[in-house]
Amino acid sequence: MDSSRPIGVFDSGVGGLTVVRALMERLPLESIVYFGDTARVPYGVKSVATIEHFTAQIVDYLLGQQVKMLIVACNTMAAAAAHVVKARAGDVPVLDVIEAGAQAAVRDSGLRGIGVIGTPTTINSNAYARRMHQLDPTVRVYSQACPLFVPLVEEGWLDHPVTRLTAQEYLKPVLAEEVDSLVLGCTHYPLLKPLLKDVVGEGVRLVDSATTTAELAAARLHELGLASRGERPAHYRYVVTDVPLRFQTIGERFLGRSLGAVERLEW
Ligand code: DGL
Repeated sequence: MDSSRPIGVFDSGVGGLTVVRALMERLPLESIVYFGDTARVPYGVKSVATIEHFTAQIVDYLLGQQVKMLIVACNTMAAAAAHVVKARAGDVPVLDVIEAGAQAAVRDSGLRGIGVIGTPTTINSNAYARRMHQLDPTVRVYSQACPLFVPLVEEGWLDHPVTRLTAQEYLKPVLAEEVDSLVLGCTHYPLLKPLLKDVVGEGVRLVDSATTTAELAAARLHELGLASRGERPAHYRYVVTDVPLRFQTIGERFLGRSLGAVERLEW
């Protein structure tokens, strides 16, 4: 496989740009094709069967773009449809945010008590807890769905009293347990890090599944001999399924830089 090919990163919408941001910082030589299914977002409240169906379509599209690796940036897709991605990917290596976040959380938790927050579909799937228990059966995992966080982040209420109160309410049961780590199991939550840090206090470490995914991607590309040698400057493409206006405006907040051109795909 040609190491100058792009990495395919996909999400239900704009949120996966937190993963793209982490990848750009960690792997500046890599080109990326990002796919955001903005016409059908949110996935976090949809059924597993629907998510499986949408995921298959996105994977087939990205494989058609000749990507060298697939990264499932959406926690909900990773929770509900990781098997669909693997089954279709063939020889193309696949990484996902749940694998990366679970590994990092289990590796670094001294107390062996870990909280996980995510969308209702991610939390109901139990995918994080299952993976963490495979890695270490002794860890205790406390999961909490936080459905209001996605709209609050998209509204830009990153340091708003309503968001703070919502976070205190959601996190109360998790913080009542003996935990030293909290996995941010949704693409949108890294933007809430400063507020969440205040709410959880010094004793609880936030595990950002975007940065842990970038670390895992760097290691896998190196292992597989697929890391870009930088013959050409990194190139970024953004493909979405709805008119790109909202994606463009909100996306720059997630990406931390300007987006450039966004392509709209008509299925
Ligand atoms: N990208 C989704 C996730 O990480 C959040 C947005 C949605 O519900 O589609 O779970």
